[in-house]
Amino acid sequence: MSDGELESLIARARELGEVAGGRIAAAADLPALENERVAWLGKKGEMAGLMRRLGSLTPDQRPQAGQVINEVKEAISGRIDRRRAEFEKAERSRRLVGEKLDITLPGRPHPRGRLHPLTQAVRDIVGILRDIGFDEVRGPDLEDEFHNFEALNIPADHPARDMQDTFYLAGGGLLRTHTSPVQIRAMKGRKPPLAVVAPGRVYRCDADQTHSPMFTQVEGFMVAEDIRMSDLKGVLELLLQRFFGKDRPYRMRPSFFPFTEPSAEFDILWEKDDGSTSWLEVLGSGMIHPAVLEAVGYDPQKYTGFAFGLGVERFAMLRSGVDNIHAFYENDQRFLRQF
Ligand code: DAH
Repeated sequence: MSDGELESLIARARELGEVAGGRIAAAADLPALENERVAWLGKKGEMAGLMRRLGSLTPDQRPQAGQVINEVKEAISGRIDRRRAEFEKAERSRRLVGEKLDITLPGRPHPRGRLHPLTQAVRDIVGILRDIGFDEVRGPDLEDEFHNFEALNIPADHPARDMQDTFYLAGGGLLRTHTSPVQIRAMKGRKPPLAVVAPGRVYRCDADQTHSPMFTQVEGFMVAEDIRMSDLKGVLELLLQRFFGKDRPYRMRPSFFPFTEPSAEFDILWEKDDGSTSWLEVLGSGMIHPAVLEAVGYDPQKYTGFAFGLGVERFAMLRSGVDNIHAFYENDQRFLRQF
């Protein structure tokens, strides 16, 4: 076999290597590059064709030509790998740009629950009283005539017992019309000195702009030796000032309740939308009637006490300018979210 064949084979290998280099560099994408790989390095590709031509060389020529062909194959394979890596890198950065996260965008808000304005008002009121030493207790919504009326010095013929106001239950019992029966239950279970606050729902057959058949009261009372009207006034002034703010005008005026003597009501100045003002009664109070102390077994010669019962809806309405009590019960989110 002539040296000419050896040289032409080697020259052809180098030439194909050059051409392959140009074609690989020109491949536009990964599929085109794969086509080049098959064309040059595949089983039926150009390099395989050259390998077959080795058979026409002498045994001592073959290693020389084989080595050149292998070098060319490795060069082509290396070029393809580098070109593929370029494509993959470009593809990765293209995806990264497309999937870019703008971490400066505001997040999606998670809606937050909140306490109902009446719950907030009850907690605020009870919190103020607990701060000055009152114990919190609860009594039942379902009451009997003794606790709701009799023990509170409300005789059977008192107007408060009128069927118009009280929800009586079939088979006896009633829905408490005020939280005052908790006075009886709490005093019976304790000995003076005591200071108790009792929030809860109460029920009356009554409904208009400022009345609802179910509403919320907080009862408070204090019994010890030598409790005076000035103690009542001091505690209630503190409560009103902490709840409504120091500058909110209020007044204390004489009143009547069967279970207190003397009795007083507190009013808060209500500034209406049209600019006019009027006083709105927010609580009843007084010195606990001796008959009530006797009903729970306390000696009225030894102990005196004051008590008050306040309307939570009115407290909440006057604090936030709501003028219809029913807004608290309609569960309109647009209303509730404002608190
Ligand atoms: N229980 C009364 C009512 O619901 C409010 C009240 C007045 C409570 C005077 C008291 C009090 O404890 O001393 O109208």
